[in-house]
Amino acid sequence: MNRLEVCFTLHKEINRAELSRIIRLKEQHCPRGYASHLRWINENIRDGDIHVTVKEDGCLIAYMGLIWTTVSRAGERLDFLGAGNLYVCKEKSAMGVGRFLLDSVGAYLLYKNVPSILLCRENVSDFYIKRGWNPEKPSDIYIGGQKTDCCLLSYQAPGHWHMAVHIDRSF
Ligand SMILES: CC(C)(COP(=O)(O)OP(=O)(O)OC[C@H]1O[C@@H](n2cnc3c(N)ncnc32)[C@H](O)[C@@H]1OP(=O)(O)O)[C@@H](O)C(=O)NCCC(=O)NCCS
Repeated sequence: MNRLEVCFTLHKEINRAELSRIIRLKEQHCPRGYASHLRWINENIRDGDIHVTVKEDGCLIAYMGLIWTTVSRAGERLDFLGAGNLYVCKEKSAMGVGRFLLDSVGAYLLYKNVPSILLCRENVSDFYIKRGWNPEKPSDIYIGGQKTDCCLLSYQAPGHWHMAVHIDRSF
């Protein structure tokens, strides 16, 4: 049986080699160049944000980022972990790895009692809904002041989502 390892690592504790493995995995699906991914990480990820990695026999096969974000909604401000950048290496595609990673993230959020949101394209939303994420329908969604037409899903998030939602940073 292969050794399967899920790790939740704070950004401030991740080393360069691991970051570079994450970027190479992202490059498989989003080939915009290593330097561009590194710049995005340096500009957007803070010390307390979390890198979730799945390794099989020490080899990185899947990744997701959890980024602390503040959401303003109907006059209230709430802190969430914004889940994003989910990638499974192409070699392991459609073998249940994405499902395994998302279930691990769900268990982590429940254990830590932290609410989460994610943004995705309409055609992927079913993947998340099947894993217990709730589709929300705010009137509008803004990220850093820019309107987006992504779908919003929540996980153990309180309250109502029908008003406009302002998310302070991209994740
Ligand atoms: C989307 C992605 C993470 C799925 O991971 P995976 O390991 O291939 O998926 P799994 O084998 O775990 O499939 C789990 C379920 O999701 C479904 N699914 C997989 N990819 C899907 C997609 N792109 N859209 C909708 N459903 C999808 C599967 O059919 C399966 O359904 P089932 O539970 O009814 O059998 C992976 O294909 C990937 O990295 N894609 C490129 C990056 C991306 O699109 N990330 C998501 C950004 S929001």
